[in-house]
Amino acid sequence: MKKRDFDREASNWDQVPERVQVASDIAHSMIRTLILRSDMDVLDFGCGTGLISLALQPFVHSVTGVDSSQGMLDVFRRKISDNALKNVETSYLDLDKGDNLTGRYHLVVSSMTLHHIKGFRPLLKQFYQVLHTSGTLCVADLDMDDGQFHASNDGVFHFGFDREDLRLGFQEAGFRDIRVFDAACIEKLVDGSNNRIFTIFLMIGQKE
Ligand SMILES: C[S@@+](CC[C@H](N)C(=O)[O-])C[C@H]1O[C@@H](n2cnc3c(N)ncnc32)[C@H](O)[C@@H]1O
Repeated sequence: MKKRDFDREASNWDQVPERVQVASDIAHSMIRTLILRSDMDVLDFGCGTGLISLALQPFVHSVTGVDSSQGMLDVFRRKISDNALKNVETSYLDLDKGDNLTGRYHLVVSSMTLHHIKGFRPLLKQFYQVLHTSGTLCVADLDMDDGQFHASNDGVFHFGFDREDLRLGFQEAGFRDIRVFDAACIEKLVDGSNNRIFTIFLMIGQKE
């Protein structure tokens, strides 16, 4: 499958108001639903330009944003230095090149990224491995979208997720106490003439 060129899109990523709004809705849903603490180290997988990381950082000890697009990370790094943030860092990682997650975190979040990951089940296992005991995984992603959400499906491996399938993936990776919440919705024009509402869930699991 042709890859989506996130590097090319990076400089204009935050210029799309609906995209920034949905990231803000997801981040606020995380803030409402998760118990964030000032001693928490957080990993934001597929951090992009840092929209989720930057919303969470005031509530936690540190945030590490990981992404496979240098372009997205460059935009994020500029925001970190412009705001002189000391508790946020970024790291380049490409699963497709065999890179693995490292470090230890109390919380792993990933927003609107899992549908871009072909083998998301092994990634859920990696999330489990980098979490401390009692740590939390929180994934935000689309409900099933029939391939209509993205203008181009380059790099889209999953047309949203069936919540029960993903719950099974969480369970197989070792997560327990799995909860799912409605997090956000976004209305988009599809087929050139009809509006469709796409819904986004939060799935949360605990490492025992
Ligand atoms: C739709 S963006 C979401 C950005 C951000 N999480 C947000 O909600 O605003 C998806 C991000 O996942 C990243 N991504 C896609 N495939 C990846 C992979 N295999 N490894 C790491 N990051 C990846 C892309 O570079 C992009 O920044």
